[in-house]
Amino acid sequence: MNIERRGAWFRLPRSVMGRLLAVGLLAIAWASPAVANEALWSRGLHFQTEGDVVPLAEDGIHDPTNQAVVKVLQEPVEAMADFPRDDKGIIDWVKVLDQGMINPRKSLKGDEEMFPTDFDIVFTNTGSMPNVRFPHKPHTEWLTCANCHPAIFLPQKGGNPITMSAIIEGKYCGVCHGKVAFPPTMNCGRCHSVPRQSPGLR
Ligand code: HEC
Ligand code: HEC
Ligand code: HEC
Repeated sequence: MNIERRGAWFRLPRSVMGRLLAVGLLAIAWASPAVANEALWSRGLHFQTEGDVVPLAEDGIHDPTNQAVVKVLQEPVEAMADFPRDDKGIIDWVKVLDQGMINPRKSLKGDEEMFPTDFDIVFTNTGSMPNVRFPHKPHTEWLTCANCHPAIFLPQKGGNPITMSAIIEGKYCGVCHGKVAFPPTMNCGRCHSVPRQSPGLR
């Protein structure tokens, strides 16, 4: 089943019957895991975005016909069973790293170092939500400055027109959050963690 065929169903129906049939088929297509070519994680089923753990063979990344995937590789649900999670059930990678449960290689050969920097940026254009603290430290324990500067963020406080809708569309923080880091659509408080200075005032 591919995207083109699914697209054709949308064009087919002319009568009400046809439309009903299309809706029925679409529902079946949605319910069947074999249907979508898209990666499972992009449909929100990935442990990183929903708290669920998807088997390797169904994650849309690993080749399900490869015997190693079925027989050799440890399933994430098992490997990550003891990893700390946040209150939405999403793995808290900052704690995982802090507690030494993983020790990512700093470079391909493992002979380089990270240079974490420790300063926060507080964003205040948050409407009636608490302000947002962006902490450099937990980010620069895994990322280099060039991962973010200047392509995603000009390194200047207030220098980027960040909005929540842009983040949800996958820009700014959303380049990573919702893909490899906890999603912007849950756990608002992990980012919006700083009480506003004058609560109640608009
Ligand atoms: C990954 C971090 C992150 C998460 C998670 C997050 N936000 Fe935001 N949010 C931001 C940033 C950054 C801004 C921009 C603040 C600025 O420019 O001063 C923002 C701005 C906002 C604003 C201000 C208006 C706007 O559209 O920009 C609102 C309202 C908001 N967020 C609501 C939410 C809600 C509700 C949630 C949870 C469903 C949430 N946010 C989760 C980072 C986040
Ligand atoms: C995960 C993304 C990310 C990484 C990695 C990152 N930064 Fe930033 N940096 C930001 C954001 C977001 C801002 C705030 C931009 C804004 O206010 O619009 C910022 C702001 C800055 C600023 C401006 C501070 C000010 O007060 O104007 C400097 C300087 C800076 N970063 C340096 C660095 C250095 C040095 C590194 C590497 C050690 C680094 N950053 C790594 C996201 C990142
Ligand atoms: C280049 C990728 C990247 C970008 C861009 C990025 N983050 Fe993150 N962020 C991460 C990763 C990776 C983690 C650690 C994994 C996790 O916690 O899911 C993280 C963790 C965090 C944490 C948790 C810190 C803790 O101590 O628990 C906060 C808060 C956060 N990010 C806020 C933001 C905000 C706000 C922005 C945008 C201004 C942003 N991040 C942009 C990759 C990124």
